[in-house]
Amino acid sequence: MMHMKTIGHILTACLLSAGIVIAGPVLAQEDAERLQGLDLSRDLCSGCHVVEENQRSVLIDGVPSFPTLGRSGRSNAQLRVWLNEPHPVMPQMPLSAREVDAVIAYIRSFAD
Ligand code: HEC
Repeated sequence: MMHMKTIGHILTACLLSAGIVIAGPVLAQEDAERLQGLDLSRDLCSGCHVVEENQRSVLIDGVPSFPTLGRSGRSNAQLRVWLNEPHPVMPQMPLSAREVDAVIAYIRSFAD
């Protein structure tokens, strides 16, 4: 069975190549950013957060899911402040500024 992350990478590659041909570089860039955000979320956040609608894992009390956060009306700025602060339990977010943008783009995609 193919690992979800592998599927993510394949999706990224497909979207990138399809985007360049069909939708142009701007759309491709946005999709790629969201997919990078999904990848990062699966890697770094899914131990505590439910990061996608169909994630099969135990919901931890008091930890908001990303779909919920995306629909919560929090702004990019609010999410950025949170991600640049040390997180409870997790001392430091090992994310670059661009990776923070990608994770925010991914979380906000639930509001679309
Ligand atoms: C070690 C567990 C843990 C990990 C890993 C973790 N979080 Fe959290 N996160 C929490 C907890 C607990 C809360 C709720 C804290 C609270 O409400 O005070 C939270 C809350 C949040 C919030 C909501 C802040 C708000 O405005 O209320 C965001 C956004 C968030 N996390 C993003 C992330 C992202 C993105 C990652 C991965 C890069 C991540 N978290 C990884 C435990 C974690």
